[in-house]
Amino acid sequence: MKALILSGGHGTRLRPITHSQQKQLIPIANKPVLFYAMEDVIEAGAEEVGVIVGPNKDQIVETVRSRDWDAKVEFIFQGEPAGLAHTILVAEDFLGEDEFVMYLGDNVIKGGITRHSSIFRDLGPDSLVLLTEVNEPQRFGVADLDEEGRVKRLVEKPQIPPSNYALVGIYFFKPLIIEACKSIEPSWRGELEITDAIQWLIDNGHRVEASIVDGWWKDTGKSEDILEANRLILDEIEPKNEGEVKGSRIFGRAVIGEGCIIESSTIKGPCILGDGCRIRESYIGPYTAINRNCDIEGTEIEDSVVMEECSISNAGRITESLIGKNVKIRESGRRPAGHRLIVGDNSEILL
Ligand code: DAU
Repeated sequence: MKALILSGGHGTRLRPITHSQQKQLIPIANKPVLFYAMEDVIEAGAEEVGVIVGPNKDQIVETVRSRDWDAKVEFIFQGEPAGLAHTILVAEDFLGEDEFVMYLGDNVIKGGITRHSSIFRDLGPDSLVLLTEVNEPQRFGVADLDEEGRVKRLVEKPQIPPSNYALVGIYFFKPLIIEACKSIEPSWRGELEITDAIQWLIDNGHRVEASIVDGWWKDTGKSEDILEANRLILDEIEPKNEGEVKGSRIFGRAVIGEGCIIESSTIKGPCILGDGCRIRESYIGPYTAINRNCDIEGTEIEDSVVMEECSISNAGRITESLIGKNVKIRESGRRPAGHRLIVGDNSEILL
């Protein structure tokens, strides 16, 4: 089996973070979202992985190449994001006549995909889609099922959803899907939709089966989804301490990276601190992921994601926040007192 991982697109719903960083590289528990997809497809037996890249391709290529993978990895340039089905057309030569799993690079699923991969192999349909019940089906592709649980119809982001079953961004296909993608027209949003291509399979009498996801699944399309995925992954983290802890208290499951120095602070897990962080007179609370080389002093942070090389000092209490790379937050100490802000386009600040 081959794998196609989608890592193109613009990530407009995550601006301003995605002005400078491709959304599939945003870290969840200090690991790029995309790496969870890579690990899952390789664990499920993919020996060749095609990574779809778009306008910010260099960042993706560099990050993926920074690690050794137990599979052959190829990058496939899509250009502008013309739809999920369009990526299959762009990858036609890579896919050849093989079965494959398509995995959206901003999706995270508990427990990987080996169970679903076995179902696909055992049942042998033209496509196996993964479904899960959600509260806001309008945000996703939605499946209409018959009494026996078979897929009758798929609709993309419907205003009136036919069910609560959302399409998870992980799909198994036989090569016939290529013909389906060639046969459909762009949707109202100008994209070649994968839901339409799967609907083409159904309409033309081919077999589409569904597998229900039994653990959690997250599409990290918005900042609150990233924080939630971060909580879910940290909930399962194993504690480890490779740093130096002086005059501090550590509670619960905390991962403290190599070269970290924790002084006069309280760390309460589940949380993770990347290599080379310096924490002084601070509180790092549950569900916080602080990436490498951050400097935190006189501050309380919890339930947040802080990316690499940030410096935060005397900043009060920070909660439910997503902080990009190399950000500086500090108390100015100047008079007149007040918030002095230098903030980029599309930022969000809750004071
Ligand atoms: O996450 C599940 C949902 O993903 C499904 O329920 C929907 O049926 C499916 O259409 C998709 O919806 P989204 O609106 O979330 O897709 P998005 O445009 O965010 O793209 C998903 C990923 O694929 C994202 O990592 C960017 C990448 N992508 C997207 C497009 C449109 C590409 O690489 N190329 C593209 O042309």
